[in-house]
This record gives sequence, C-alpha cells and structure tokens, in this order.
Amino acid sequence: MDKEPFSHLGETSGIRYMNPLVDWVGDMTQLELSSFPTSDPEDLYNESELKALVEDFSEGCFVGFDQENIVAMGLGIRVHFDLEKPLHTVHDIVPGNGTSGHHQDGDWYYGTSIAVSKQYRKRGIGNELYKLRKEVCQCFNLRGIVAGGVMPGYVDHKNDYSADEYIELVRKGEIYDPTLTFQRDNGFQLVCALPNYIVNPEIDNNAALIVWQNPDYEVVN
Ligand SMILES: CC(C)(COP(=O)(O)OP(=O)(O)OC[C@H]1O[C@@H](n2cnc3c(N)ncnc32)[C@H](O)[C@@H]1OP(=O)(O)O)[C@@H](O)C(=O)NCCC(=O)NCCS
Repeated sequence: MDKEPFSHLGETSGIRYMNPLVDWVGDMTQLELSSFPTSDPEDLYNESELKALVEDFSEGCFVGFDQENIVAMGLGIRVHFDLEKPLHTVHDIVPGNGTSGHHQDGDWYYGTSIAVSKQYRKRGIGNELYKLRKEVCQCFNLRGIVAGGVMPGYVDHKNDYSADEYIELVRKGEIYDPTLTFQRDNGFQLVCALPNYIVNPEIDNNAALIVWQNPDYEVVN
C-alpha cells in the first residue's frame, strides 16, 4: 500500500505543510525570487535545481499552503560539515548544474532556503518551518542545522561595523536584524560572518553562519 503523503497543519498559522512535489517547482521558484529581491538570481534555486532537490530529499523539505496557494517553504539538504572550517559560499553547498548538493549520508541538515510570502509574515509560519526542520534532524539523527543566514539589516550599519561586529551586536540583542534576530530567537547560534557567501552588494556579499545543535543527536560508530 502507498504511504500517505506527509501533511501537517500549523497550530499557530493554520497553514498546511507538505513535502514538495516536482509539479510545484514553478511556484517555488517564484517564491524564492520574490523573497530574496536583492540577491543575484544565480545564487537562488532555479527550477532544475529545485526538481533535483525534490527528487533527492523531499522528506527534508516543506511547502506551506493557504488553500491552493504556495505561501511558504523551508528547504534543505543533508551535508558533511566541519564546524572547525566554517567558511564557505553558497555554491560550495549547492553547486548548481541541475544538482541539489544533497549527500544521503550527510550528518548535518543544511538549510538552503526559508521563505514566507510577504503578506504572510509575522504569523509564526517561519517558526513552524523551523520546528519541522528540527523534527527532520531528530528523525534522521542529524547533528543539527547549519545555514548561511542573510543579514538584511547590515545595510544600515556597514559603515560603522564589520560584518563580524554587526553579528556580535545582533547576538547580544543590541541591534535588531529582521532575519538574524528571528534565527537567534529560534535557538540558533550566530557564529561568524561568511564573506562572499552570495552576491548581494547591499550587504557587501556577507552572510552569517548560523548553527542549531540537535540535543537528541546520538553518536553512532
Ligand atoms: C525570515 C522569515 C522566513 C521569517 O518568517 P515569518 O513567517 O515572518 O516568521 P515568524 O512569524 O515565525 O517570526 C517572525 C517574527 O514575527 C513574530 N510573530 C510571530 N507570530 C506573530 C504574531 N501572531 N503577531 C505578531 N508577531 C508575530 C515573531 O516573534 C518574530 O519576531 P522577531 O522578528 O522579532 O523575532 C521571513 O521574514 C522571510 O521569508 N524573509 C525573506 C527571506 C529570508 O530572509 N529568509 C531567511 C534566509 S536566512
């Protein structure tokens, strides 16, 4: 008998989450483009990469629906990641050329995109997507979640602080960043700046390495 497709109703938002299907990659591409308007589209998912991702690791990805409309998504892959060598770019993780970058035996979940349609933000959808990602880590016994977090608020501070100083101030709660503060409040460590992570001249091409450690991870030999 076929397995029932995954479906989860967000308690706070009422949004229905499902694992993505290949048929949805057109709408997912549009959500990606509209959610990262200052990023170079080369650094964002395109349809062929999303198709590969859905084929490789649909069970680690979630798409949020309001009725028939896709309004949110949280995507990711399994990777090998060395916290001792944290510097990397988005292309080191998602190499493009129609591949997803997913490694079936990777012991970290790399969050490659989280996006909520503008008119649906601040209703707890982002938080619900993170809960689902954390459940993936628990289900597959992964070490945790790693990602390169965008830091849109840096545009107003880049003349005053280096990217690392800015991240430190957001970490201490002295500066509010629309994205990094949300990640911090979701249990992520804001580790360090990732220079040249993406092409985004507004923030001098920086991102922040963010890490959530799975407290239930068990070392297996
Ligand atoms: C970052 C992003 C995914 C957050 O999604 P979201 O659905 O707005 O997230 P949530 O609603 O769970 O939380 C966002 C804020 O709304 C607040 N909030 C949640 N429910 C709320 C409610 N009912 N009323 C008022 N505020 C609420 C949260 O406390 C949080 O506050 P904070 O920003 O001060 O920490 C979304 O802003 C987005 O898509 N941004 C563009 C793409 C992007 O930057 N992605 C991240 C890449 S690293």
